[in-house]
Amino acid sequence: MYNLLEKQYESDSMTNITSGVVGKMSMKLLNDRASPLSQLWTRIQTSFEELWPNQFSFHQNDNPIVSVKQNFDELLIPHHHPSRSRNESYYLNRHLMLRTHMTAHERELMRQGFKRFLIAGDVYRRDEIDRTHFPAFHQVEGVSILSLKELSNHSANFLHNSADANVIKLIDKACEAGQLEHDDRGLLKMALLDLHSKIDGLLRKLFGNVDIRWQETYFPFTQPSLEAEVFYKDRWVEVLGCGILKTSIVQAPLQEDGKIDHIAWAFGIGLERIAMILHDIPDIRLFWSHDRRFKDQFVGGNNSLHPSGHPVKFVPFSKYPPINRDISFFIPSQSDFHPNNLYEIVREIASDLVEDVKLVMGP
Ligand code: DAH
Repeated sequence: MYNLLEKQYESDSMTNITSGVVGKMSMKLLNDRASPLSQLWTRIQTSFEELWPNQFSFHQNDNPIVSVKQNFDELLIPHHHPSRSRNESYYLNRHLMLRTHMTAHERELMRQGFKRFLIAGDVYRRDEIDRTHFPAFHQVEGVSILSLKELSNHSANFLHNSADANVIKLIDKACEAGQLEHDDRGLLKMALLDLHSKIDGLLRKLFGNVDIRWQETYFPFTQPSLEAEVFYKDRWVEVLGCGILKTSIVQAPLQEDGKIDHIAWAFGIGLERIAMILHDIPDIRLFWSHDRRFKDQFVGGNNSLHPSGHPVKFVPFSKYPPINRDISFFIPSQSDFHPNNLYEIVREIASDLVEDVKLVMGP
């Protein structure tokens, strides 16, 4: 038994939660008005409201403890999937864990009857340490359940508006494989075009004129699945994953004859990456800083925007030059050592002082 945030939990062979990560759980950055992350969450909500008034409901869940069933099983994530390993996720015990994505909350909101919603929260993954990876970060998950009637009433031309020829080609290709439960490719395509128009609208609201690239990808809970990247400082940065939810995941009433009469799309967007791009924030660990030199840069602005409407740009303040340290040690050939175990120790001892840990292979 152990105590976590004033509750008792049974520990077992899966337990691997650390005091470092528990400290992050209590920070609740989405409720801190001075955090660029909470300001971005507000901007996403106002963007949706401006673009599609009264269509989506907005939710926030500040308790990252979920069941393994919610986070993995119910989302069809296979038992051998690497994300289930103790090296990649934080477990309280074999039944409870820290959510690794906000997708874990989709089903419960659909069950409560919500059809179009966004939900934000903090998520946790054991990860390498560097400027763009941190074991705690934030995601917004979006879902829309569209009735087949609604979709067939939509004029294709209307939905095509935001999609250029490349995107339409990609969507056509993604629909070719179809989805077992939805053999009407036309409707599947309409749903994907609707999803594209929402994401494209949101990204353009946030970034203004930006290059966006779409690709097909794979997620266990969606088919087809797509990801979107934006071009920033000479490279493409992945900002979200999305797709058509597999029907076993969708929680919505069926028709009287038992037929499925809806298609649902979903997306998951990482808040840190977007905020880093918008504000030129060079290191993901800054979001967790108590340093006034960071926080004061974002208070006072209207949703971290200048009166001009442009995002406030971060001004670096580090007063120490960086230093490098080499550590080497032997690992027995039979060991089940995983680099994440070392990253965890470094994080425990040196907290956020360490900017980067690199594995350099010996000769
Ligand atoms: N849950 C995924 C992740 O954290 C992101 C994601 C992908 C969410 C596709 C979705 C989706 O809703 O449809 O990497």
